[in-house]
Amino acid sequence: MKKILFAASEVHPLIKTGGLADVAGSLPRALAELSQDIRIILPNYQSIKNTEEVRFISSVRVNNQDANILETKLPDSDVIVWLVDCPALFDTPGNPYVDESGNSWPNIADRFTLFCRIVVEVATNRAHLDWSADVVHCNDWQTGLVPALLSIEGNKPATVFTIHNMAYQGMFPESVFSDLNLPRQLWHPNGLEFHEMLSFIKGGLAYADRITTVSPTYALEIQTPEYGYGLEGLLSHKYDILSGIINGMDLNQWSPETDTSISEPYGIDSLEKKIINKTSLQARSSLPVNKSVPLFGLISRLVDQKGIDLILDCLQEMVNMPLQFVLLGSGDKSVEQKLLDFARLYPKKISVTIGYNEGLAHQIEAGVDIFLMPSRFEPCGLNQMYSQRYGTIPIVRETGGLADTIEDALPKSLANNTATGISFKQATPGALLEAIKRAILLYSDKKSWKKIQTAAMKKDFSWEKSAKQYLALYEEI
Ligand code: ADP
Ligand code: GLC
Repeated sequence: MKKILFAASEVHPLIKTGGLADVAGSLPRALAELSQDIRIILPNYQSIKNTEEVRFISSVRVNNQDANILETKLPDSDVIVWLVDCPALFDTPGNPYVDESGNSWPNIADRFTLFCRIVVEVATNRAHLDWSADVVHCNDWQTGLVPALLSIEGNKPATVFTIHNMAYQGMFPESVFSDLNLPRQLWHPNGLEFHEMLSFIKGGLAYADRITTVSPTYALEIQTPEYGYGLEGLLSHKYDILSGIINGMDLNQWSPETDTSISEPYGIDSLEKKIINKTSLQARSSLPVNKSVPLFGLISRLVDQKGIDLILDCLQEMVNMPLQFVLLGSGDKSVEQKLLDFARLYPKKISVTIGYNEGLAHQIEAGVDIFLMPSRFEPCGLNQMYSQRYGTIPIVRETGGLADTIEDALPKSLANNTATGISFKQATPGALLEAIKRAILLYSDKKSWKKIQTAAMKKDFSWEKSAKQYLALYEEI
């Protein structure tokens, strides 16, 4: 049994802005089911939603700052969660990264430096918890300083650093390094320095014992200039400790048979009931209720990564096609406005909801026929997996985890019943439109469509397989 400290900046259902929270809320559960002693650690944000009891268990002083450790449980599980409580830094409205107006926290480097320092104290049994870690599993730049700080400790646990997204690196001016009072020996080009800037993610990449990312294809892509954001050299140098482990999905939350957020549960043997979810989604989205029109959906952070510009470029042609489109997302303000403008012009074709809405996300997965995910890059992506579980056919660009989890509907895969989606290669509006037309054509052939749905719903996206791969990695180090 390994003692694992799992550090992340967001954990579902306590706090979530994207897929990292889904992973941090479900991988530890899967590791606990493999009988590991796993503890999750995250900051005690004001916006945390918790249904479990919380109790104070210790206080720690580090770099002249005080923090409390609060203990709670991951809802409906026995997994222990430690909340790093420092009201001066975390007791503010907004989300972990931005304030209520969407501006990055000016003190974001201070916030996550304190968090990393406390993770180190906890991992090395200096937080009065009578527990020390064998392995610290860090996730994304917010935890990047942990492997760096541990590298200068004597008796240190092993470290794994998982990259969920190379596009976010936690870069700050050199002066921030001094202001944070970080150990001077970490400042060099093979350490935290990146072109005279402080790079949090480099702390993970340069010092962790193992680096993973969330799909095998993305593990290769980030070793190239197109996806590596200047760190491709370091990553290809580290290729022997770098691997891709595909994310699983939380079947307790994302199963159409038991989903309490949707109008009518259904499964592979009662697929005909999916239509009830379609008509109620159309009704709640103020679209004409029409069982036979192909209904498209999208749920996403509205940022460049997700290929939203491709969608915007296609919308004018899409409204001339026989389809409807339900979109839920938030992010880039100008994208939000363009989408809303379009929906106002074509209310019978497009419904746009700006904001974050978990219930609606489930209703979209259950209600739509086709899910759009034309990402420019996608480390793993979860919605294409959720879609497949719900018999909703994803259209994806062939990149990262999308390439690893979708079998394109081509004559051969259709003939041998392995097709589960539609994919396209070029990140261009033309290629996306072709894929949309292909989907509409396939949808009109009810027999083929049902075959694709069935193959998609049968796929195994459970966490168990991936959790075992992480465990093998922990055992290696
Ligand atoms: P990323 O982490 O890059 O945003 P993923 O596909 O890994 O992409 O995960 C996104 C997660 O966030 C999914 O669970 C998705 O359903 C959820 N999500 C994204 N935007 C919204 C939204 N506006 N409302 C509800 N859920 C959302
Ligand atoms: C990131 C990636 C997404 C991935 C998620 C969880 O947010 O953008 O592709 O699924 O992390 O690993």
